[in-house]
Amino acid sequence: MKRCKVTFQPVNQEIYVSPGITVKDAINLAGFEFDFPCGGRGKCGKCRLQIPTGAVAPTPAEQELLDEESLAKDFRLACLARITGDTVVELPYVTTPKHQILIAAVEKQIRLEPHLNKIYLEMDPPDLQHQQPDWEHLRDSTEQAGLTAGDKPALELLRALPQTLRAANWRVTVLADQEKIWGVEPLNTTDRLLGIAFDIGTTTVVGYLLDLRTGQELAAVSALNPQTRYGADVITRIAFASHEEGGLSELHEAIISELNGLIGEAAGQAGMQREDIYTVSVVGNTTMHHLFLGINPGNLALAPYIPVLQQPMVLTARELGLQVNPAGMIYALPNIAGYVGADTVGVLLATDLDWSEGIKLAIDIGTNGEIVLGSKERLVACSTAAGPAFEGSQISGGMRGTIGAIDHVRFDDGLKFTVIGGGRAQGICGSGLLDAVAGLLQQGIMDFRGRILSPDQLTAEAERYADRSVKLESGVKAFVLATAPETVDGRPIMITQGDIRELQLAKGAIAAGIQVLLERLGCDLDAVAEVLLAGAFGNYLDPHSACAIGLIPQALESRVRPVGNAAGAGAKAALLSRSEYRRAGMIADFTEYVELSAYPNFSHLFASCLNFPLG
Ligand code: FES
Repeated sequence: MKRCKVTFQPVNQEIYVSPGITVKDAINLAGFEFDFPCGGRGKCGKCRLQIPTGAVAPTPAEQELLDEESLAKDFRLACLARITGDTVVELPYVTTPKHQILIAAVEKQIRLEPHLNKIYLEMDPPDLQHQQPDWEHLRDSTEQAGLTAGDKPALELLRALPQTLRAANWRVTVLADQEKIWGVEPLNTTDRLLGIAFDIGTTTVVGYLLDLRTGQELAAVSALNPQTRYGADVITRIAFASHEEGGLSELHEAIISELNGLIGEAAGQAGMQREDIYTVSVVGNTTMHHLFLGINPGNLALAPYIPVLQQPMVLTARELGLQVNPAGMIYALPNIAGYVGADTVGVLLATDLDWSEGIKLAIDIGTNGEIVLGSKERLVACSTAAGPAFEGSQISGGMRGTIGAIDHVRFDDGLKFTVIGGGRAQGICGSGLLDAVAGLLQQGIMDFRGRILSPDQLTAEAERYADRSVKLESGVKAFVLATAPETVDGRPIMITQGDIRELQLAKGAIAAGIQVLLERLGCDLDAVAEVLLAGAFGNYLDPHSACAIGLIPQALESRVRPVGNAAGAGAKAALLSRSEYRRAGMIADFTEYVELSAYPNFSHLFASCLNFPLG
């Protein structure tokens, strides 16, 4: 069969593919990072790109989602356009695949207590007077040195043991946890004991390489979650895992392969080997957790949204194919419920919410919004489907918080915005959208119901923005945030009435979730001592804007504190300390999950939270 040459511009990278595959498949084959927010189902119209050579006739869905001018210029949807001959694909943004990922995290003091310890032994060789078998000899020497050897040696360890002991002249390092010996290494390797903590987000994966003897962070690495090519949100991935043949293993292998890449990268940055890494801790939402373990998350998409397991999970790195030391162990943190996962447990662990004297509210807005309220007395948690608007996937000019995104907007002295990485804008990310909508509200360009006002309805103060308040051909009202000359592709970036509606739904869901938790805990806003905003989005958003639109109650504005990637900090804590890991299990048991869809009166509460505050 004749293959087709696909050339990706502007990087001029060529690959060869079989005819008939989609441009999306070609992009994935070439290894580019590219967003397919609807999972490549031809629904969202966001995978728009230009195919200057080889574009085939548009499909009916493309005709519907793309305007005539774009079609005439050979713009197509990557997930629908098929390759039938040699093709040139113009990539709009993947040439700078640097994602703004939050690495910094809350400071937390913990006592170092690694899951695995090393001890160096200088054993006496056996002789005719001392004929102790190798295992018993090693076991007794280990216990004499203060580590537990256990009585169930792994067969693999026994098979290698005679050679290891003799080749090293009975000078070996033993690797053991509280129950058994996991490995024996020749000579003294006690100066190399590393671990890596992973926070597997729906969109990004962050890894922290730590020296388990000192707690020092040696490297921090990050990457786009490769599963994004199967869909931006967890629901699309659950569907792929459940309904596509081999879908589950494809998603599982994609994340394992990415983690293996990050492990190598982190070890390289620190000047170490991947074999020097002995423990791995993992947090992620429940879907990411299941996919990491290769467990089908199918039931998470079906009421009553039951996960396969909640409890912490310890397994060997070999079982999952993680390329660390062959004796390496994995510590997956527990989940709380189907949509409140190990990442939330990580947030609670890092912020010590379960030990807090006063009542605190923790909000982690990622692809979903997880909310936890309480103190050492009681913790209640819920999850809202808040993410898509904040992550840009259902916003007309929306994009993730990466190079080219408008991330902050100000109206104080005329309309001004900043773009991540500088230069012209390509779209708007969640924090920019929040600022923009808060500004529209405060400037009187939009009313409290979220309606963009026509130029003739504007107050004298807002009149200077009259030419930005437009009506699109479809009749939909919009506000021009960035004019054509200010954008990468020469098309204005708008905040449409539909975008505002999406934001209202998202902020309404979170605001209603907070109300439900207050009700469930039986307290009011005065009782809330602090609001902890976790996650990348929580760190970048302007708390004033979040309170101005009612995402967070206005009364709490002065009590908001961003805590960075607290989920990742929790994963680090669980890596460095057995006690913290055990505590994670307790937090999961302790936290009461509230299912919003089953909460009496939730739809009424939600509806009442859709409007914006009056001032
Ligand atoms: S239309 Fe292509 S990813 Fe949605």
